[in-house]
Amino acid sequence: MNTFTMNNGRDIPAVGFGVFLVENNGPTERAVTSALKAGYRLIDTAAAYRNETDVGRAIKNSGIPRDEIFVTSKLWIQDYGYEAAKKGIDASLKNLGLDYMDLYLLHQPYGDTAGAWRALEEAVRAGKIRSIGISNHTVSLLKNLLPHMEILPAVNQMECNPLFQQKELRKYMEKYGILLEAWYPLGHGDKRLLENDTLKTIAEKHQKSAAQIILRWHLQEGIVAIPKATSEAHIKSNLELFDFTLSEEEMTAIRALDTGKGTHDPEDAENGKRLSSFKIHD
Ligand SMILES: NC(=O)c1ccc[n+]([C@@H]2O[C@H](COP(=O)([O-])OP(=O)(O)OC[C@H]3O[C@@H](n4cnc5c(N)ncnc54)[C@H](OP(=O)(O)O)[C@@H]3O)[C@@H](O)[C@H]2O)c1
Repeated sequence: MNTFTMNNGRDIPAVGFGVFLVENNGPTERAVTSALKAGYRLIDTAAAYRNETDVGRAIKNSGIPRDEIFVTSKLWIQDYGYEAAKKGIDASLKNLGLDYMDLYLLHQPYGDTAGAWRALEEAVRAGKIRSIGISNHTVSLLKNLLPHMEILPAVNQMECNPLFQQKELRKYMEKYGILLEAWYPLGHGDKRLLENDTLKTIAEKHQKSAAQIILRWHLQEGIVAIPKATSEAHIKSNLELFDFTLSEEEMTAIRALDTGKGTHDPEDAENGKRLSSFKIHD
């Protein structure tokens, strides 16, 4: 598996497997088991997905040594603030059945993120988490948080795909060596992306699918992609990216597809209100 090196010197697999909206108690365990068999070595879950226990079960039963799998989870807003975050970190570890996580993210940019970040930093020093990062932080949200950080985020997980390339954010994060990790890399299955003419033409030339072209684009841009798939065929084909290269001309054509707009604006106060009211425990 190809890797990228994060700003703390640790490696992260360049392509991972996401389990957003996959049910716990069976479906997630099955999907992660298939993904590990297909060769994925990064699994992306979150406390708010409520499927950490299935992820942990699949990892344990895979027989793959723990240090060969990169496990990411995320702290939910309800557990922000220093004290609550300490408990949230321990709850994720317990649900996953692990004694450390490879990467742990602040899932959303609302509430006491500075206090929560302090707890994440402490957990790094205690050996409970190897790398820490953020998610859904735009340039301005990241700027607000940076003065409160002793440890820089290793990644920022954001919506990103050829229709929404996060060019401004990527440029800003480059200064700090923060990697972009793309959620919705396949546009959540959006036909405007998967059936885009430019991508289809490039796909035909390489005898690949549009999805594979999209994921290869992320790889060549230095962006970690974490596609989710439940279909066995998708799980397998989304990792068949290492036997071809997009030419500079093809990369340029894909870069031109950027609309600068995605489906989710973290700076929209309504989103903040809606997500902050979502509770994952009593
Ligand atoms: N940090 C955040 O706030 C945040 C937000 C959203 C997502 N995420 C993370 O990002 C991951 C990916 O996002 P996502 O799952 O919503 O969207 P996605 O990976 O962009 O798209 C998944 C959808 O695309 C389909 N698909 C997968 N491979 C395909 C292929 N080769 N050809 C055609 N269709 C294909 C899947 O169908 P099948 O299931 O039928 O295979 C599924 O419907 C999540 O699982 C999660 O880990 C994070």
